Amino acid sequence: MSNRGNFSGRIGFILAAAGSAVGLGNIWRFPYLAGQNGGAVFLFFYLICIFLLCYPVMVGEIAIGRAANSDAYGSYKKLGGKGWGLLGLYGILAGILILSFYNVVAGWAFGYFLQISFGNLLHQQDFGPYFGAFVNDIFDLSSLQGFANSNLLFSILFMVATAVIVSKGIQKGIEAANKIMMPGLYLILIGIIIYSLTLPNAMSGVKFYLIPDFSELRWTTILDGLKQAFFSLSLGMGCLITYGSYLKKDDNISKSAAIISVADTSVAFLSGMMVFPLVHFLQYKLQVDNVATAGPPLIFIVLPQIFSEMGPVLGRIVGGSFFLLVCFAALTSTISLLEVPVAYFVDTMKYNRTRVVWGLAAGIFILGIPCMVSQGMVPALNQLDFYRGQDWLSFIADMCDIMLTTGGCLMCIFISRTWKIENMHSEISSSEPNYSTSFLKKYLTFTIMWVAPVLLGVLSILVIIEKFWGLENVF
Ligand code: TRP
Repeated sequence: MSNRGNFSGRIGFILAAAGSAVGLGNIWRFPYLAGQNGGAVFLFFYLICIFLLCYPVMVGEIAIGRAANSDAYGSYKKLGGKGWGLLGLYGILAGILILSFYNVVAGWAFGYFLQISFGNLLHQQDFGPYFGAFVNDIFDLSSLQGFANSNLLFSILFMVATAVIVSKGIQKGIEAANKIMMPGLYLILIGIIIYSLTLPNAMSGVKFYLIPDFSELRWTTILDGLKQAFFSLSLGMGCLITYGSYLKKDDNISKSAAIISVADTSVAFLSGMMVFPLVHFLQYKLQVDNVATAGPPLIFIVLPQIFSEMGPVLGRIVGGSFFLLVCFAALTSTISLLEVPVAYFVDTMKYNRTRVVWGLAAGIFILGIPCMVSQGMVPALNQLDFYRGQDWLSFIADMCDIMLTTGGCLMCIFISRTWKIENMHSEISSSEPNYSTSFLKKYLTFTIMWVAPVLLGVLSILVIIEKFWGLENVF
């Protein structure tokens, strides 16, 4: 196994795993879910989910990878036999599906980054129709002042960037890229927050975000919070098994997992601190009470409108930096998503890394084309009859959520029933002498054996009901 590659040390691993965790989920999905679910109440539940439930699952996942020293399939198979290998394959499939739609959205962000930086986009009068047209016609090469605007092209470029990094391997590719992009991401984020807090009416946004109003609490708030926490930490599909397998034996697992969770949560939290003051600034400018902040278009419709209110120069700087931030976050995640199937073909199937990377990147890109054209170009995919009239991209994204929570549930069952929790403990304590007498050990045992599998099982069922039939129609 010596030629599998390793992270250079704990920092490299933490940066890469935090890079995987920090992504569109934090900057695109978290703020709009928070906007939809009452702001501070959502934040409150989200934090509970992360630290009480997701953290133990993360430790378990990393421990599996490091103990088995193989890809997601190989690890389950090695520790639990061929049958459990299927769970690894299920995770690998989930990763492939996530990447297929994720790359499409990342392509939009990349397109917006170029358009805003070149000063094209901010001349628009109305960003809603602009975004509609942008995602609708994927071939449109000429709509903005002669500058190529095809979102097909943008997502090809994004996938190529992902493949270039992954093909260079663990240290020279994944670790090196994260070492540049993660600090860059924090710097840009903090810069925009400082600026946005100086805008008029910013404090009203901060209040909405930080002071909970528990009368806003709904069942969907809890469901969305838990699902989002799982997705955001990259749990449930073997991503951290794969990264954990490149972790050296003397690196501390529980501390690394804590740092990764805090890093991811802080970026989600800070994204809210960036977005809500901006949104409330816009409300002030337009003299309206509520700009629609709910839903996926938040960063593609509402934010560009805010950037254009800032005037041509400042708008370009702040808007361009914002979308660069989104691209960094997305790219550190797409590389982790591609690495999961790549590791399987390299470790288990013994294929050549470079060929696998390019083959998979091309295949996954093609798999994403239906998502891309489901935003209006192909009406049949825009309104699925069997899926309550929603589009194909949402369908795939929701199926991935379900695959993650079911995968996480099965992983906990795997640890407690097959691999045995004692083996997980001894893997963790091999690099942490004090672990065996700690409270943490008891807490992890309790959560992984009982709380997490039950909650994740129930959550998965509720999410399936919610997505196909609507919770309100069933209960
Ligand atoms: N966590 C990333 C985000 O928040 C997405 C992601 C990357 C992911 N790798 C993953 C999600 C593995 C689930 C599993 O955007």
